[in-house]
Amino acid sequence: MNRTIQRIGILTSGGDAPGMNAAIRAAFRRLKACSKDNEVVLFREGLNGLAGRLEVNHLSEINRSDLRGIIHRGGTFIGTGRIPELKPAPADCPDPDAWEKRRQEITDVAVVNLRQLRLSGVIVLGGDGSFKGMDHIRRAYEVRYNEPLRLVGIPATIDNDIWGTDASIGFDTALNSTVDALRKLRDTCESHRRCAILEVMGNSSGWLALAAGIAGGATTLMIPERPETYDIELVLARVRAAVRLNYRSIVIVMAEGVRKSSGYKDLPDRLRELIENDDKIRQYQGGRSLETRVNIIGYIARGGQPTAADNLLASELGFEAANAVTDESLTNPVMIAIQRGQLTRVAFDEVVRNSPRLVEETSPMVTVARSLLISADQDF
Ligand code: F6P
Repeated sequence: MNRTIQRIGILTSGGDAPGMNAAIRAAFRRLKACSKDNEVVLFREGLNGLAGRLEVNHLSEINRSDLRGIIHRGGTFIGTGRIPELKPAPADCPDPDAWEKRRQEITDVAVVNLRQLRLSGVIVLGGDGSFKGMDHIRRAYEVRYNEPLRLVGIPATIDNDIWGTDASIGFDTALNSTVDALRKLRDTCESHRRCAILEVMGNSSGWLALAAGIAGGATTLMIPERPETYDIELVLARVRAAVRLNYRSIVIVMAEGVRKSSGYKDLPDRLRELIENDDKIRQYQGGRSLETRVNIIGYIARGGQPTAADNLLASELGFEAANAVTDESLTNPVMIAIQRGQLTRVAFDEVVRNSPRLVEETSPMVTVARSLLISADQDF
């Protein structure tokens, strides 16, 4: 156990994820258990708080009662945010110099704030974008003060696309909420003999759509990484097969990122029209078209009370993050990960370099989905 007094900052950044509160609570309790003199500072509004006016953006002298009752709450009780300008200027940036100047200003404020608070380490909860942003600030801090700042990441995103960990906080809750939505859609589709297109979050990665499609028994699913899943002719062929096999309810799950990757911003409506006007489907239905409804679950899946699995994962990751951030032998930033049920530390550099973790052709879940979803020539 580390006996040196430590002052640790904690912040949540990027999209909120159910279970973040449990991780903050676990990290706080572990830090205090290591030494009751350890101090915790919480930043409000994520990286915006760290790089903002300190007086209104941090909470210090945190004690146990400040974190009472938060474990069951969704979202993050300290708030979150993003700072796109912390990234290097994008290729299409009209004024890269102005961007770089702004980036430097934001970094300077964050670095000075960290110094003013005399922090020895920071725990950041979020995805790879948050890790990159925080690591950029850490490097600037170390250059300016020639002193190390320990940095530990906790993977938290409903997209579950952080490389190096089998699971991220929030995914299980979002998955359950999405499957719940899918089941509700089934009920009403079943009653009317209809088709529903359910759009779920997932901009670059389709893990949520893939897992929800499998667990919720979708007819077919579309994810941004795998063009064959959003080939409209193939999707239509599958819907036709389901109609031919006399399914009363047909549910198509689609990750939001497919709008961009397919090049059709209006893909769900376009698909709805194609299904409703499809001659083959009409023919199977004795001349009646298949009424189709588009539903977007969006932020509803990101909110809500965390599942027990998410709170358990969050508690484990928070506990281990506190151990790592007070470990004086820690010289480079790490993310706390869960791999095959074991807590482990993964170098930030590797996490950032390899993230987002995309759905691969060879991902076991893809193989499972292929065997479960209806095929165009389904004959049983
Ligand atoms: O939390 C991750 C995520 O849900 C992505 O799937 C989505 O594209 C993004 O956040 C949208 O977040 P926001 O609208 O808050 O920027």
